[in-house]
Amino acid sequence: MSVEPSLVRSVEALREQVDVWRRSGLKVGLVPTMGALHEGHLTLVRAALAECDRAVVSIFVNPRQFAPTEDFALYPRREADDLAQLALAGVQLVFMPPVEVVYPEGFATAVTVSGSLTQGLCAPFRPGHFQGVATVVAKLFLQCLPDHAYFGEKDWQQLQVVRRMTRDLDIPVAVVGIPTVREPDGLALSSRNHYLSPAQRETASVFPRALREGIERIEAGDPVEAALGAMRDRLAASGFSPIDYVDLVDAVTLEPVRSLGERPLRLAAAAWLGRTRLIDNWPVVTGAGAR
Ligand code: PAJ
Repeated sequence: MSVEPSLVRSVEALREQVDVWRRSGLKVGLVPTMGALHEGHLTLVRAALAECDRAVVSIFVNPRQFAPTEDFALYPRREADDLAQLALAGVQLVFMPPVEVVYPEGFATAVTVSGSLTQGLCAPFRPGHFQGVATVVAKLFLQCLPDHAYFGEKDWQQLQVVRRMTRDLDIPVAVVGIPTVREPDGLALSSRNHYLSPAQRETASVFPRALREGIERIEAGDPVEAALGAMRDRLAASGFSPIDYVDLVDAVTLEPVRSLGERPLRLAAAAWLGRTRLIDNWPVVTGAGAR
């Protein structure tokens, strides 16, 4: 049996509930989302429920992280379905603020994480995106003040940006990263997968496979540029266009890496299939940790 979570739409109501919990010594976990929930989101929710006494899920399609040319208007909105899934999962509180609550008239502040974290990978292709993310996540953290907040490794660059922002601003929230949840064929779950036609969905399985093959080459000692080039060729041959990037980066600084050392690495890619942009990343194990 599922118990309906409380649904709040104002910061005051959110704080009132979270304050009661915190005063009772209960640990609170926050899962920020943009809705259209799938098993990836629910895995974050289950981690929050397992590690905390109470879980809050925010659902807000944040206009500031979409460039004017992007899919803000089209982005799936499934409020009733999302609430039903969260009730089944056992979430205690859902925060679903209207846009004017998050960005009231006259709103004039932005949070910018600069440097290598926002120079490569998705950043040049999505101007303003990470500033929009950092701004809304900083707000959500300060509105809710959870003990823990849960983010998916699927959006690896976002996770690093959020970690940096939280540390730099001394926000007392522990950021927890959760491994990517995938379909049986390896495709990372994403709300944007709803845009794929059945034929595109079939082709989409090439995306994680190309990344896996690239990792195998790199881990086997192939030159990095050659492995990245082969991945690009494989994606292009399957109809991905444009390929925004395929890159090997330092897992923490996100700086491009071409010669392997001991540090943790990520292979990350973004490419379009029709009007759907797919992103993905995997860890690359080299040096002492290699197989
Ligand atoms: P959204 O795309 O809804 O994702 C919400 C959270 O779910 C993010 O932390 C994301 O990394 C995680 N997630 C999505 N797909 C996943 C998967 N297949 N496996 C594991 N985790 C997955 O990311 C956002 O929303 C927004 O940018 C947000 C952080 C809410 C700020 O607006």
